[in-house]
Amino acid sequence: MTIIITLDGPTASGKGAVAAALAEHLGFDYLDSGALYRLVAWQALHAGWTIDTPFDDEHKLQLSEWARHLNVVFTHQHIILNDADVTSAIRAEAVGNMASKIAAVSSVRTSLLQRQRGFARGKGLVADGRDMGSVVFPDAPVKVFLTASSEIRAERRYKQLINKGFSANMRDLVADLNERDERDTKRIHAPLKPAQGAYVLDSTDLTLPQTVAKILDYYASIVA
Ligand code: DC
Repeated sequence: MTIIITLDGPTASGKGAVAAALAEHLGFDYLDSGALYRLVAWQALHAGWTIDTPFDDEHKLQLSEWARHLNVVFTHQHIILNDADVTSAIRAEAVGNMASKIAAVSSVRTSLLQRQRGFARGKGLVADGRDMGSVVFPDAPVKVFLTASSEIRAERRYKQLINKGFSANMRDLVADLNERDERDTKRIHAPLKPAQGAYVLDSTDLTLPQTVAKILDYYASIVA
């Protein structure tokens, strides 16, 4: 049986880096579920849709078709969609914002459910997202909800974007972050909130290694 650690939390809380470090340390697989929503968003943007496109029934149908038939390959370091390397491109803020909007469509969430569960096939999985502990893997033995203040999250996102070669400015980032928090927490389907029994960890004053160490301690107290 695959041991599953779920790691949920708001945007730019550091989940991605923490999840990758945990997976590496434990020799587990890693599911970046946000990447799946970003890939659907990428297809929509590619088709000429914008963040202001109103989603009518036809749009929702198209979105769930894209989600169901995502032609994606995750290699160790790369994400290949329809034979194109989109690893960096899907990290743009515009793609993240569109992903957040698309993620509120329940048929998209349903279309991605089995694909996400399919990642649980090795000895262990670290699953990073918004609803990993509440919806996708409700029976996971170890559930973590990672938070951080919005100021520190904006700073982390800023550094992330600059490092990836995107331009960014703090004022826009704080506004984006607030908008995404609002959308992700207030949506009807699978809103962002700590799963029942989740260990809530505030990483505002913690470094990445400190955050990972705390989660490993927690993991050991449950699984070891
Ligand atoms: O983690 P991220 O920033 O890459 O995710 C992009 C968007 O996808 C996020 O704003 C909300 C959505 N998402 C979701 O609704 N459920 C998940 N499990 C993961 C991401």
